[in-house]
Amino acid sequence: MIPPDIAAVTDYEAHAQARMTEQAWAYIAGGSADEITVRWNQEAFARLKLQARALPDVRDVDTRVALFGQTLAHPILLAPTAYHKLAHPDGERATVLAAAALEAAMVVSTQASVSLEDVAAEARSAQSQAPLWFQLYLQADHGLSGALVRRAEAAGYRALVVTVDAPVSLRNREQRVGFTLPPGIEAVNLRGQPAPPAPGDARDALRHLLATAAGWPDIAWLRGFTKLPILVKGITNPEDAERAVAHGADGVIVSNHGGRVLDTVPATIDVLPAIADRVAGRVPLLLDGGVRRGTDIVKALALGASAVLIGRPYLHGLAVGGAVGVAHVLTILRTELEVAMVLTGRPTLAAIDRTVLWPEG
Ligand SMILES: Cc1cc2nc3c(=O)[nH]c(=O)nc-3n(C[C@H](O)[C@H](O)[C@H](O)COP(=O)(O)O)c2cc1C
Repeated sequence: MIPPDIAAVTDYEAHAQARMTEQAWAYIAGGSADEITVRWNQEAFARLKLQARALPDVRDVDTRVALFGQTLAHPILLAPTAYHKLAHPDGERATVLAAAALEAAMVVSTQASVSLEDVAAEARSAQSQAPLWFQLYLQADHGLSGALVRRAEAAGYRALVVTVDAPVSLRNREQRVGFTLPPGIEAVNLRGQPAPPAPGDARDALRHLLATAAGWPDIAWLRGFTKLPILVKGITNPEDAERAVAHGADGVIVSNHGGRVLDTVPATIDVLPAIADRVAGRVPLLLDGGVRRGTDIVKALALGASAVLIGRPYLHGLAVGGAVGVAHVLTILRTELEVAMVLTGRPTLAAIDRTVLWPEG
């Protein structure tokens, strides 16, 4: 089932493309405009140099991390991504089985193609030890957002991830192939609500966004509305990180949406140090965008992240092998992380600090 030539998570990419329609591939692989930020996200990791330790005195590695009162077996989370059924007919049901098997926290998208309750039920039936978190696009209409939050609470979700980088962008790759959602795939959590604009329809998306846009006061409202930890996702500069903390966020996800929103914003790993300096440990930072190797995870942790999320890599695994493919992607990254921890002489995640990197220059 898993092609034998796969050794690294990026090896899944070509196999995934071969199995998907041109349209679905454009949606998953694409970024905004010229996809420069998509490339930078990965290139910036490659530029950072690690310090190896000879004969490291490491007998065991411990990848556990405590976040928001939850202990995660390892710091690799599944980022919220819309419409998993584009990659595999079982959609988010397959993804959550893999998350359960590999004890990975999964952030379920508002725009999932399986209902948030059904994803939670699948996790329960797999006796998952890993938490589910729910991603929310906050809207000015608190009735809609509030109803989703109550559903997520009732279904056992353990944190809310509020995505604050606008879900509007000009993804030319999608426009060129005329991407539309195929019949049978929809944002089922939003049934009965005014339909979100179809992906690829940028002018409608912009109008919808402006009509329904939330602001910082809405984060403060949410803080008062729920007891769940709130993470603000989509922060790429220190000022916004400061505002997120000031408005009650329990965590910040440094993210440029995988290069899918505003092209030529910097790579997330490049902006992380300044954000970490500004936040100064008041809340945990997570990072996504371009994480493709265990060594990338070490670099993100060195520069101030407590954990990372992956997006496209697990969608590629999902397209190729369903739950088994996603589980394999997580296994590869976790193994690479453990090997990198040994070779850099860091037995725990807490032992990974800036000294694991060569000074730049
Ligand atoms: C196909 C696709 C769909 C996405 N859908 C969402 C979404 O519904 N909500 C959200 O907050 N982020 C969404 N994202 C962004 C991811 O959460 C994450 O920030 C990004 O994929 C990380 O970069 P990477 O793909 O390089 O790992 C999506 C990303 C992709 C590739």
